[in-house]
Amino acid sequence: MIDGKKVLYSGMQATGNLTLGNYLGALKNWVDLNEEYKCFFGVMDLHSITIRQEPSEFRKRARNLIALYIAAGLDPVKNCLYFQSHVPAHAELAWILGCFTYMGELNRMTQFKDKSAKHADNINAGLYTYPVLMAADILLYQAEYVPVGEDQRQHLEITRDIAQRFNAIYGDVFVVPEGFYGKRGAKVMSLQDPLKKMSKSDENPNGSIYLMDDADAVVRKCKRAVTDSGNEIRYSEDKPGISNLLDIYSGCTNKSVEEAEKEFDGKGYGDFKLAVAEAINSVLGPIHMEYERIIKDKNYLDGIIKENDSQAMYFANKTLRKARKKIGFTDIPRKE
Ligand code: TRP
Repeated sequence: MIDGKKVLYSGMQATGNLTLGNYLGALKNWVDLNEEYKCFFGVMDLHSITIRQEPSEFRKRARNLIALYIAAGLDPVKNCLYFQSHVPAHAELAWILGCFTYMGELNRMTQFKDKSAKHADNINAGLYTYPVLMAADILLYQAEYVPVGEDQRQHLEITRDIAQRFNAIYGDVFVVPEGFYGKRGAKVMSLQDPLKKMSKSDENPNGSIYLMDDADAVVRKCKRAVTDSGNEIRYSEDKPGISNLLDIYSGCTNKSVEEAEKEFDGKGYGDFKLAVAEAINSVLGPIHMEYERIIKDKNYLDGIIKENDSQAMYFANKTLRKARKKIGFTDIPRKE
């Protein structure tokens, strides 16, 4: 608990351009949670270097992501939005936790297998111990809840296992966190292949709507979206294209899928696609405006970053000190 609120932790990597899928699947839900919980949202830049990054591009992306967090509605005063690499405790706890993680456990991680296959020329040790760093992220802040996508379930399970193992040896050091997994519709599929997740790294740019896409691009991509045979606007397994668009429409308007089906009863695919585009633009428009304002205001953003970095450090170091002490490391003499 911090200030009478339960702690929630999540984060995104600063790689690729965020998509509407990242917004509807993660960011938007975070915004809904950011009043009720004390939230820490990291820009996971230590995780990002498990894949090669172009330095100047990477630097820009990381800063832009913090601005986007704020633009999307995360409150940087009530919550803590910060860069993982600015808080050395993450790397330090990751080392410690690595000594409480078995290779057999890491060998089972499906994301490691997928990423190794995709980046066969760079299967580095960081990619392998990625889940240990993620455990450190979460455990440092004593988070009770971790909203993540289904693809992170295994990483959250290993985090719980590591925490329980550590606690069993040293007493209650870490809160054992629980995952919050997305609800129906939280997973946005590619507009070009609705059986595949909408992705930051899709080779076909028409498959993804990027959060920074302008209104015309959104209309164009929606018009080109793959639909299904027939002409009914109905949610069903044999209509993955239309179902995906219904999910997107519902996510952007906060109407239920059932309401949306009624609204478009008897209408054609063309009208529906335009309505979807309009719904998306009504969400993206205000985010773009806020984002532009924030990114231009260097002093404001620097101030937020400085403030939040030191807040993250305060809480992280508190947990790290506790873990160090339990393990039996000697005290670090304090500077006078
Ligand atoms: N691995 C997560 C992802 O790619 C990002 C992440 C890193 C994370 N550390 C975290 C998410 C801690 C939640 C909590 O989506």
